[in-house]
Amino acid sequence: MLTKDISEKQFEEDAMEIYEAFKEKEGSEHIATPLSICAVLKLAAKSENVLEIGAGIGTLSYAILAHSRAALTTYEDNFFCIEQLKKNLQMFDGRFKLLTSYMQMPSSRHFDLVIVDGANGQNHDGGYKRFIHDLFSGVYPKIVYIEGVRRPQRRMIRETLRGRYALWVKKILYRGEYKGGTLYYCYRAPWIIREIKNGWNEIREHPRLEKYFSKIKPPKALPLLSDRR
Ligand SMILES: C[S@@+](CC[C@H](N)C(=O)[O-])C[C@H]1O[C@@H](n2cnc3c(N)ncnc32)[C@H](O)[C@@H]1O
Repeated sequence: MLTKDISEKQFEEDAMEIYEAFKEKEGSEHIATPLSICAVLKLAAKSENVLEIGAGIGTLSYAILAHSRAALTTYEDNFFCIEQLKKNLQMFDGRFKLLTSYMQMPSSRHFDLVIVDGANGQNHDGGYKRFIHDLFSGVYPKIVYIEGVRRPQRRMIRETLRGRYALWVKKILYRGEYKGGTLYYCYRAPWIIREIKNGWNEIREHPRLEKYFSKIKPPKALPLLSDRR
């Protein structure tokens, strides 16, 4: 179904339904918030090829597979989570590719959407500190969605993509407050990249870039959802 066919309210209801269902599952302590599930539902509806980093027990993976036609490649290296994923996504067998080691690179390099909800480099979560840098050095995303706050990963993503893209940063606000959930819209216009290489890192404050971005219709605000976590 296309995004324009789905109302904001429907996205919210679908997100809440997925959240409620996954909250009851084994190992649900770290699942994505309803706000993030809703954001991912909206983004996935416009995507054909999605990469997910940190599937956990599969809340966001399920949202993508059940509510879009996108092909999904997802990373998860935790043994317990891999077992839960197999159970929770069994109805989508053959529609997604699971990478169980962060030492593997995805077979595709172009993604409409890359979701980051894991692999922070700590021993309990990937244990590969440069993974985000190495991955983003080799892939071409259109949109990156970061679940939660993940400040060091955000910094690493920005630093890695900066030379190739102009990034439009959008934080998801809940009642005017940032509680996690950041979007990077990645634009590849050669002159923008040249300007950035010349030292303009704060792209949002650069007058020429501001003018350029003002011509692009800004993404609509993401809906508010009660934070039930
Ligand atoms: C924030 S979680 C990812 C959650 C996932 N996106 C979801 O919504 O279901 C990040 C990482 O924590 C680990 N993790 C999540 N749940 C876990 C659990 N119950 N036990 C052990 N590790 C877990 C996994 O390795 C996962 O990649």
